[in-house]
Amino acid sequence: PNSRSIRLAVIPGDGIGPEVVAEGLKVLAAVLPQDVKLETNEYDLGARRWHATGETLPDEELKSLKQHDAILLGAIGDPTVPSGVLERGLLLELRFAFDHYVNLRPGKLHPSTVGPLAGSPAIDFVVVREGTEGPYTGNGGSLRTGTPAEVATEVSVNTAYGVERVIRYAFERALARPRRNLTLVHKTNVLVHAGNLWQSTFDAVAAEYPDVTTDYLHVDAATIFFVTRPERFDVIVTDNLFGDILTDLAAAVTGGIGLAASGNINPTGAYPSMFEPVHGSAPDIAGTGKADPTATVLSVALLLRHLGYEQEAGRIEAAVAADLAERDPAAPRSTEQIGDALAARLAG
Ligand code: NAI
Ligand code: MG
Repeated sequence: PNSRSIRLAVIPGDGIGPEVVAEGLKVLAAVLPQDVKLETNEYDLGARRWHATGETLPDEELKSLKQHDAILLGAIGDPTVPSGVLERGLLLELRFAFDHYVNLRPGKLHPSTVGPLAGSPAIDFVVVREGTEGPYTGNGGSLRTGTPAEVATEVSVNTAYGVERVIRYAFERALARPRRNLTLVHKTNVLVHAGNLWQSTFDAVAAEYPDVTTDYLHVDAATIFFVTRPERFDVIVTDNLFGDILTDLAAAVTGGIGLAASGNINPTGAYPSMFEPVHGSAPDIAGTGKADPTATVLSVALLLRHLGYEQEAGRIEAAVAADLAERDPAAPRSTEQIGDALAARLAG
C-alpha cells in the first residue's frame, strides 16, 4: 500500500470465531509499527444476525465491506441455524461477490509440533485451491424432493478463464519459492471433461514457466502422499472441492486444525481479500477458552503479507514458531493466554 494505513473489516462470526479473532487483533496491534494507522470496523454477521433479522449478507453490508483493504473472519456456523444457510448465504456469497478465486492454504510442520506425523521430514507446502467454481457454484437442484424417486444434481462448473487464472497464480507462487515445483491434483481419469480442461490448461501454462518443475496426481493418490510423503509437495493447485478436502487433511498432518490458516484472495486487488482460520465455529468448545487462536494469528500474517507488510508477517510467523517450540502438551493454555504470549513476543 502507498499510504501506511490499513482499513480492516472484521467479521468475528459464531462460536469460537469472536474468541480467536480477539487474539488475532491483539497480535496485529502488537506487530504493527507506530506509523501504520489501523482502522477496524466490526460486522455483526452470522447466526445471531440471522435469528434477529433473517439476514445473512445484506447488500449494504456487502457494499460497506468492499470499502476495506482486507477482511478478517473468525468462523461462521451454528447448530441452531439450518445447515447451509450461513455457509452458502454468507461465506460462499462473500467469496463469489469478491471473486476470491484463489483459496491459499499453507501447510507447514513445525519441528516441535505434536501429531500423527511428528518427527517426519520438513513439511512445507502450499495448496492453491480454486475458490469460485467447481461444484460450489450452486448449479444444481432437486426434483421429486423427499420422495423415493428424488433426483439431485450438483454440477461442477469449470471455465477456461477460471481454470487458467488460478493455474497462473499457482505457477507464480511456485516460481517464487526455492523448490519451484507445482503439482496439479485432479481426477482426470474419471472426471474426463473437467479433467481435460484442467490438464490441458496446466500444460499450456507450464510451457511459459520452464523454471518450474511440474507433476500430476489423482486426488485419491494425493491423499496417500499427504500422509506417507508430505515432504514431496511444494505448491499444489486443484479445484474447489478437492482443495477443500485436501486442506483439512493438510491441517491434520501439520499440527492440527488449531494451526491452519487461509486466505481467500482476489489477486487483482479489485476486491478486498478475506483471511480466516481453516477451522469452523467449533460449537463443542465455544465459550470454554480451549480454542487455539494460532490459526487466526497465522491468518493475520497472511493478511499482512498480502497487503505488503512482509516483515511484519515474518515476525508473526517467527513468534508462532517460537511459541510452538515451547509448548507443553501437559500444560494447555487458554485462548487468551496464547494470544497474550504471542503479543508479548512481538512487543519486545
Ligand atoms: P470445526 O472446525 O468447527 O470443528 C472440528 C473439530 O475441531 C471440533 O472438535 C473442534 O472443537 C475442533 N477445533 C476447531 N477449531 C479449533 C481451534 N481453534 N482450537 C482447538 N480445537 C478446534 O468443524 P465442524 O465441527 O465440522 O463445524 C462446526 C460449524 O462450523 C459448522 O456450522 C460448520 O458449517 C462451520 N464451519 C465454518 C467454517 C468457516 O467459517 N470457514 C469452516 C468449517 C466449518
Ligand atoms: Mg473445509
